[in-house]
Order: sequence, then C-alpha cells, then structure tokens
Amino acid sequence: MVRRVRKPQHARGEVTPPGDKSISHRAVILNSLADGTARVANFAPGADCASTVSCLRALGVKIESPAGARSAIDVQGVGVRGYTEPATVLDAGNSGTTMRLLTGLLTGQGFFTVISGDASLCTRPMGRLIHPLRLMGGRIYGRNRDTLAPLAIKGQEIHGLDYTLPVASAQIKSAMLIAGLFTGMKGKTIVREPALSRDHTERMLRAMGVKVTSEGPTSTLVCPAAPPKALHIEVPGDISSAACWLVLGAVHPDARITLRGTGTNPTRTGIIDVLLKMGARLKIENERMSNDEPVADLTVESSRLSAVDIEGDIVPRLIDEVPVLAVAACLARGTTTIKDAAELRVKETDRIAYLVSELSKMGADVEERPDGMVIRGGEKLAGAGCSSHGDHRMAMALGIAGSVADGETQIEDAEAVDISYPGFWQELERVATG
Ligand code: S3P
Repeated sequence: MVRRVRKPQHARGEVTPPGDKSISHRAVILNSLADGTARVANFAPGADCASTVSCLRALGVKIESPAGARSAIDVQGVGVRGYTEPATVLDAGNSGTTMRLLTGLLTGQGFFTVISGDASLCTRPMGRLIHPLRLMGGRIYGRNRDTLAPLAIKGQEIHGLDYTLPVASAQIKSAMLIAGLFTGMKGKTIVREPALSRDHTERMLRAMGVKVTSEGPTSTLVCPAAPPKALHIEVPGDISSAACWLVLGAVHPDARITLRGTGTNPTRTGIIDVLLKMGARLKIENERMSNDEPVADLTVESSRLSAVDIEGDIVPRLIDEVPVLAVAACLARGTTTIKDAAELRVKETDRIAYLVSELSKMGADVEERPDGMVIRGGEKLAGAGCSSHGDHRMAMALGIAGSVADGETQIEDAEAVDISYPGFWQELERVATG
C-alpha cells in the first residue's frame, strides 16, 4: 500500500498510544508459565504480539479475548512444565522478541520445536542467542552454521550461567532469564550487559514473586521452587509509538499534542532526554505507577530544535526511536552525530542504510557511518517517493517526515505500521485535522 502524506496546517490533540509491545510480549509469555489465570489489559494490538499469542497457543496455552473488554486477553498459565510439543513449525512472523524469548523458554522443555519467521527475521542474527543458551546446556541449531533462523530446539535439562553479553540486548537477556526459570532448584542465571537495556522482564518477574535482582547492568535470577504467580497487568502506552507524536509536535510549526498514559520506564526514555536536550518544549505530568512500570502524560509543543550528539549508554535507551529522531535531527539547527548504534543494521531492516537512502530522497543531508550517521540539519524536507522497505518504524518515521515536508510524500509499504501500531495512519489524519 502507498500512503500519501502532506504537511497539515496544524497538529493538535490528544493521543493514547497503543499498549507497549515489549511489555505485552512479556505479559503473555510470563503469565503462560504462571500458576493461575491473568488478565492482560491494553495488550499491544500489532502483528508482533499476535505472533507471540499464536505460538503460545500452538504450545498448548489457552489465551482468550474476553467479551466486552477491548484490547484485553486472558492467559491461562500452564506452569513451567505444562507446555505441549507443537505439531508444526512455530511462526514468529516479523517479531525478534517472539523468536528470542520463546527460544529461551523452549530450551528447557522436554520436547522438540522448530521456530521460524518471515524473510526479515530469518536474516537477523541468532548466534548471539544460541551461544549463551548452549552454554546453559541447551541444544539449539540454526541455519548458516547456527547463526540464523529457522531454529530447531531439542529441549532438555539446563543449568544456570554467569554470562557477559557482547552487545546490550533485552531480547537475549530476557531469553536467558526465562531459560533460568527451568534450571532446577536454586539454579542461578547472571546476565551482565555493557549498558543496561530495557528491564521489563526483571520488573515483571519480581512482581510475579521470582527472585530477580538488578545491580546496574547486571541481572541475577534464582530459579524458584514454585511457578511464578499469575499477574494481572494493565500495559502502559508504548513510548516507541508515542515517539512519533513527540517528534511531530516538536518539529511542526503549529502543534500541541498530549499523550495519555505513556510508559516512562527509565530504560526507555532516551527519546525524552534527547528531545529535551535539543530544546523541545516537552512536559511530563501525572507521573504514576502501573503495576511495576512508571507511566505519565506527555505534552509537546512546537519548538526550535538544535542538534545533539547521540552515543554511548543512551543508545540502548532509544534504539527503536532512532528513525524518528533522525527526522527531528533533519529539522534541527546544526549537525547531529549518531554513534555506537551499529545494532540498527540488524533490526527489521538495516535502519542506517535505509534512513540515509530515504531521508536523502526528501532532500536531507545525511551521511552513513558504520555505526550511525551524521545529519546536517536545518534544511527543509521536500516531499518525495520513498519506501518503508517493510519496516514499521521506518514507515512511521517517514510519515512524520512527510507531515513536515513541502509537497506530497508517497510512502510505499505503508501497511508495515501494522506490526506495532495498526491505527497509526488514521491517528495521523486525526491529529492533522484536530
Ligand atoms: C526489544 C529489545 C530491543 C528492541 C526491540 C524490542 C525487547 O532489541 O530493539 O524492538 O522487547 O526486548 P534487542 O534486544 O535486539 O536490542
């Protein structure tokens, strides 16, 4: 689908971002291995979390959508040993989180599973997942000498491990912590990261009664004697989806957007820190806790942005927001340098290469670097024909770029937004006429 976007006169209104994708995956996976039934409200509506639900159903977990409760699911936990061998290949679709977290879970089961995904997911690195899980005793095999999916997992007894990740990754950390739940009485799993990545797994497991401690970028899990307790969860709004509105509000000359109920977990708020540093008029209000996750309302208004350097420990705190932040940098005064972000090359697409190619088509001055990019801002963007290349975050970033560019922008493969934000284009129209 090609989506045509033009700059609206203004961008105004209130937006409630969809449920957080990362938290939704964890809410359904961790409750599936719990003792009891839990309701997950405001479950993320996109295709990625639907992939996790269908894989878990194929493993024998009952997950239902209760009548009358919009965006909620009820998960009937099967306990740590209650999964059943799936009759066919599990399909993780486009979702790295589904494949990696479920591989952690399946490593300690007493049966055989094959998990695969779409063309994008089957080119993403899996050696980084297979390696530590094998050191825990797991038997996992993959294509291309055990580096790519499809993955075959011969579940068996595993043990704890003290492991240092070469690259900060919440997906690998979470896979190991979930595997740690199958390591037998008091099995200890320690994951050390070079910089702290999102900590939703640790928070949720603690709330479910599992002994998980976090000291800086090191997380330690002690295998519990009893299954985790089922936990009702109200999923906060996704800050990665909210990021689009934060940038639109800051760069559009006549804008005021309020985002209700957005997750503000400090491991995810790099986007807020960077926008504030760039000079955005951004207010954080009504801060509260939802389960163990912080939530707030955010209001952003038209701002004059200046360039910033993005590098080091902040990178894992905003990695998924780089596409839309690059749009902000194109419109800011000065030169923005993004470094230490080579991980962007192994997301749903090579986001460094595609940001450079697509934003250049719109007249931006963007230079590719191995681990990031240099953006000379202050220029206007011009409408152009560009493509998301099937990447949801690219589609949304280009939608925001098109909403501040002169003339019309045509975005190919615009339906990619369905991965995390199915209502995105409708919401963009609403904000533009608000
Ligand atoms: C995620 C972790 C990050 C992030 C991804 C979601 C998660 O990936 O980019 O969109 O839910 O754990 P990595 O673990 O590969 O850094």
